[in-house]
Amino acid sequence: MHHKLISSPLQGYTDFHFRNAFQKFFGGIDHFYAPYIRFGGKMEIKPIYQRDLKPKNNTALEVIPQVMTCRAEEFIFAAKYVRSLGYTELNWNLGCPYPMVTNKGMGSGLIKDPAKIDRILDQVHSKTDIIVSMKMRMGYEHAREILEVFPVLEKYPIKNIGIHARIGAQLYKGGVDLEGFQRCVDHCGQKLYFNGDITSVAVFEKMTEQFPTIDHWMLGRGLISDPFLPGMIKIKTYHYPENKLEVFSKYLDTLFTSAEQKLTGEKAVIRKMLSYWEYFSSLFPEPPKVVKKIKRAKTYEAYDSAVREILEGF
Ligand SMILES: Cc1cc2nc3c(=O)[nH]c(=O)nc-3n(C[C@H](O)[C@H](O)[C@H](O)COP(=O)(O)O)c2cc1C
Repeated sequence: MHHKLISSPLQGYTDFHFRNAFQKFFGGIDHFYAPYIRFGGKMEIKPIYQRDLKPKNNTALEVIPQVMTCRAEEFIFAAKYVRSLGYTELNWNLGCPYPMVTNKGMGSGLIKDPAKIDRILDQVHSKTDIIVSMKMRMGYEHAREILEVFPVLEKYPIKNIGIHARIGAQLYKGGVDLEGFQRCVDHCGQKLYFNGDITSVAVFEKMTEQFPTIDHWMLGRGLISDPFLPGMIKIKTYHYPENKLEVFSKYLDTLFTSAEQKLTGEKAVIRKMLSYWEYFSSLFPEPPKVVKKIKRAKTYEAYDSAVREILEGF
């Protein structure tokens, strides 16, 4: 089977700077979901999302925009906006687990309301020609909530349903619920993508054995932590390339330059790099020590020397 790998969006991490840097130095990803567009009360697309989706910022890769909303008007507005930029598909986020989102009936908080999902999809399909895909958890309170949503989704030409195999109430705690995902495979007549905790080639191979009908896999934190992972999965190897230090160093430099372009002040740039290092640290034998070294750096000079020290162990 030919497996497709998809970059799962992480707000604050996988913006166009990240996506372009990743694509330049690594590869293995077939397409990227952009982090969600969210409305702040006004019917307008914030400049940060506009920049992220601008075609000229996304020339080297295939990007699919995402929206997080529980209002048909907002969905339609976002759909028309992304269509005006040339995108044909809009992914709908029913996965976000955070109470400030779910308490408003958005993200994974919407899964328990299939009638509302139906009303929104009906409006979107009658007023736009956007292709809709879904990104969902299996529920907010329990993993069977999604089973009530499948018959609604089947009324529409949903391109695919990416499932992060957890429930919202879990946040990111505990493992992925593979039994729950199997139930989705058994009950859903539409195309499913798997998402959750793919962090190594070995885990990926185990998943493909367990779910032989799935051929699309979404990687979120695993891809940020180990940018070599998608490429290694694609060529079925457990070995890193020989020039891994050189490639990773150049990637770091590119992320750093991007952070410098979008932020003001050494502290803000180093804080941004720290947020990546919290993931990269898993590539090293003692992750907490790596994070501590970056955290201690308050100037560019200190940051550079911390990075040099860390990379000696790569
Ligand atoms: C910091 C952070 C930001 C995220 N932002 C988004 C987002 O914008 N849209 C979305 O659908 N999922 C978002 N997610 C969820 C991830 O895309 C993914 O579904 C989840 O992390 C599970 O996959 P993983 O184990 O491969 O990371 C986010 C997750 C994290 C940790």
